[in-house]
Amino acid sequence: MPPNSSSDAIYSTTKTNSSSSSLQLQPFSFLWLLLFIVSLQVTILIMARAVPFYNRRTHFPNPVSDPCSSGRIFVYNLPLVFNQELLDNCHELDPWNSRCEALSNGGLGRKATGLSGVVPEELIPAWYWTDQFAMEVIYHNRILNHKCRTMEPDSATAFYIPFYAGLAVGKYLWSNYTTKDRDRYCEMILDWVRDQPYWNRSDGWDHFTTMGRITWDFRRSKNEDWGSRCIYMPGMRNITRLLIERNPWDYFDVGVPYPSGFHPRSDSDIFQWQYFVRNRQRDTLFCFAGAPRGAVKNDFRGLLLNQCMNASGLCRVVDCAGTRCSNGTSAILETFLDSDFCLQPRGDSFTRRSIFDCMVAGSIPVFFWHRTAYLQYQWFLPNDPKSYSVFIHRDEVKNGTSIQSVLQRYSREEVKKMREKVIEFIPKIIYAKPENGLESIKDAFDVAIDGVLKRNKEHEQPGYKWK
Ligand SMILES: *[C@@H]1O[C@H](CO)[C@@H](O)[C@H](O)[C@H]1NC(C)=O
Ligand SMILES: *[C@@H]1O[C@H](CO)[C@@H](O)[C@H](O)[C@H]1NC(C)=O
Ligand SMILES: *[C@@H]1O[C@H](CO)[C@@H](O)[C@H](O)[C@H]1NC(C)=O
Ligand SMILES: *[C@@H]1O[C@H](CO)[C@@H](O)[C@H](O)[C@H]1NC(C)=O
Ligand SMILES: *[C@@H]1O[C@H](CO)[C@@H](O)[C@H](O)[C@H]1NC(C)=O
Ligand SMILES: *[C@@H]1O[C@H](CO)[C@@H](O)[C@H](O)[C@H]1NC(C)=O
Repeated sequence: MPPNSSSDAIYSTTKTNSSSSSLQLQPFSFLWLLLFIVSLQVTILIMARAVPFYNRRTHFPNPVSDPCSSGRIFVYNLPLVFNQELLDNCHELDPWNSRCEALSNGGLGRKATGLSGVVPEELIPAWYWTDQFAMEVIYHNRILNHKCRTMEPDSATAFYIPFYAGLAVGKYLWSNYTTKDRDRYCEMILDWVRDQPYWNRSDGWDHFTTMGRITWDFRRSKNEDWGSRCIYMPGMRNITRLLIERNPWDYFDVGVPYPSGFHPRSDSDIFQWQYFVRNRQRDTLFCFAGAPRGAVKNDFRGLLLNQCMNASGLCRVVDCAGTRCSNGTSAILETFLDSDFCLQPRGDSFTRRSIFDCMVAGSIPVFFWHRTAYLQYQWFLPNDPKSYSVFIHRDEVKNGTSIQSVLQRYSREEVKKMREKVIEFIPKIIYAKPENGLESIKDAFDVAIDGVLKRNKEHEQPGYKWK
């Protein structure tokens, strides 16, 4: 029943209106109609409210309350040759060095050294010299502990194949190994997985895997070319592949952040780190971590290096000759912490680990190719590139545009705002230390898995895949 007060209100309004404009008949009747409709709606609303509260709760359950509402993950229990045995043979995964240290600590690698006085003392234990290719091991360890992991394949939305594709191919990429050598593991795993009863259900559409190298290491199209042809093998076609560099034109390639060195133990580690990089005194406008030998050839990195060295104290160079920067050093971290901007040209491929080292240190990345980040890590970075980064087209640099003057055009306020955006996104680009994740903050792993589950739900809609 509508309470009296609402009908009282209607009468009093109409009375006021009629006395003030008794001759305007048409607007008056229109108003009447309007008020009638409004009062009808109010009545319906009030009647709906009269239904007891607990009753409505049961009719419309709150979807947010189920942490696995996006689905559950089944992890294949693979023959050990596809993962654990590769780790056990870490000393022979690379033609030159042992990879054992790099893959230790569940893929986080060697504990960082030399950081005293560089980062807050209490955060030093959260730092490792993580290898840029260790992502497969990190994801595997985390996913085994995921709250939405299921042991029951029938209830799974996604099937994870914990194959260490990058570790398996690493050794065979160089020297005189044959294409057969490079393809062997991938052929084996695809044979294995296509024999599984849950594979045929979706032609692989609900399966995903991690490949801890760039996509081009798995895309050999001609025999004499680089890499394995893993991604071009028939069974791979519909499998979602998490990679540190994707092919932007392949829907099934998903770019995920390179592992960097910061592995917070708790939400509180993240907050402390964000506070630290936000309030850091930065004395250098920009910096460039790269190999000075590039300057000899007149390649693009050489141009950047020249500009940096010419910027009279406004730019700092870190010498990354050889592989010196591949597993992080305190010198790089310190340089990023001291700089407002960091230059991120493409390297041998379009992406580099340095993008994440830079942003974790609260430095604003400067890109020269769209494919370096904007077309790679959409799940992990802000939608608006301008909000957190600077883009200078490589041709402008080749034409003599001064990077220094482009960067100097940003006001202190603008720099602060962009840095705040970078800092806001730090959690999404780092991999937490605990194997079951952080308390409430979602890290890169969480974002990736949520993304995969969401995709798999989308695949069930008409217009996608097999149904
Ligand atoms: C590669 O070449 C070296 C000599 O240069 C040889 O010792 C080695 O057996 C070769 N490996 C393969 C797989 O052919
Ligand atoms: C899946 O389908 C393929 C091709 O139709 C078939 O050869 C294979 O035996 C099937 N596998 C299973 C486990 O049913
Ligand atoms: C660097 O400085 C030198 C001399 O000061 C100048 O000749 C050269 O053009 C400068 N190069 C760049 C890239 O600005
Ligand atoms: C990088 O890793 C290699 C092999 O694990 C090690 O020998 C080297 O000292 C490391 N470099 C740095 C800068 O930590
Ligand atoms: C670079 O210079 C060339 C020739 O001067 C010009 O045609 C081109 O438009 C310039 N490109 C950019 C991006 O400024
Ligand atoms: C990929 O999915 C499509 C559509 O469901 C299917 O026709 C095709 O056979 C699948 N490819 C492989 C290699 O499983």
